[in-house]
Amino acid sequence: MRAETDSLRPVRVSRRDVFLLFREAGFLMRHYLRIKFRICPILRTEAYVPDKGEIVDLGCGNGLFAAIMKLGSPARSIVGIDLDARKIAAARKSLGNLSHVDFRLGDLAATDYPKADVYTIIDVLYLIPVEAQNRILRMCADALQPGGTLVLKEMDKKPRWKYLWNMIQETISVKIVGFTLGSHFHFRTREDYVETLAGLGFTVEVVPFHRGYGYSHILFLAKKN
Ligand SMILES: C[S@@+](CC[C@H](N)C(=O)[O-])C[C@H]1O[C@@H](n2cnc3c(N)ncnc32)[C@H](O)[C@@H]1O
Repeated sequence: MRAETDSLRPVRVSRRDVFLLFREAGFLMRHYLRIKFRICPILRTEAYVPDKGEIVDLGCGNGLFAAIMKLGSPARSIVGIDLDARKIAAARKSLGNLSHVDFRLGDLAATDYPKADVYTIIDVLYLIPVEAQNRILRMCADALQPGGTLVLKEMDKKPRWKYLWNMIQETISVKIVGFTLGSHFHFRTREDYVETLAGLGFTVEVVPFHRGYGYSHILFLAKKN
């Protein structure tokens, strides 16, 4: 099932507050924040996450989205999981003092996830082969109760020029600078994601997020039936 919406929810978290949380982080992290805010609607994404409950952020990286979610609503209890030990260490260092925020090292394709009301996956799946992506989405579906939420942020293959621009930028970030672990990209069309999620028992709302950005951002807000 699929509904598409253009209704953008308002941004509730300020860049300044995020920078404050990461004030002790190194130059590279602060530079990453600046770039991420400029090119990605990550602050807007927060408003699509339920305000309370147990949340697991899959592929949490250095904890940026966990930090944004906590700033957006302190009633959220958040666990972040990532494969990259350096990023988990950085997340713990910056955000270790926040209550009910925890980070764990783990491979999403091979780990059992803690039970949660909400799973968030922000700009992660394109780094993982499609078969493993589907396993991850299935594990989320199996772990969620009816009414539970999966917030999936990815890149669409349309508009085409934005998608191609994203490929160039990701190639620099992943393959040349080595900022993110991974060696190949596994982008999928929105139709493919919607069909896959619907097949796993989700009702999906598609939020095209690319307007105002040079990248083909897209959000899937999936509710377990
Ligand atoms: C582009 S970063 C996005 C990080 C974060 N979600 C954000 O938006 O700031 C992709 C993240 O996915 C993680 N990742 C990739 N494959 C993974 C896997 N199989 N298991 C866990 N994490 C993975 C990478 O280590 C990296 O931190």
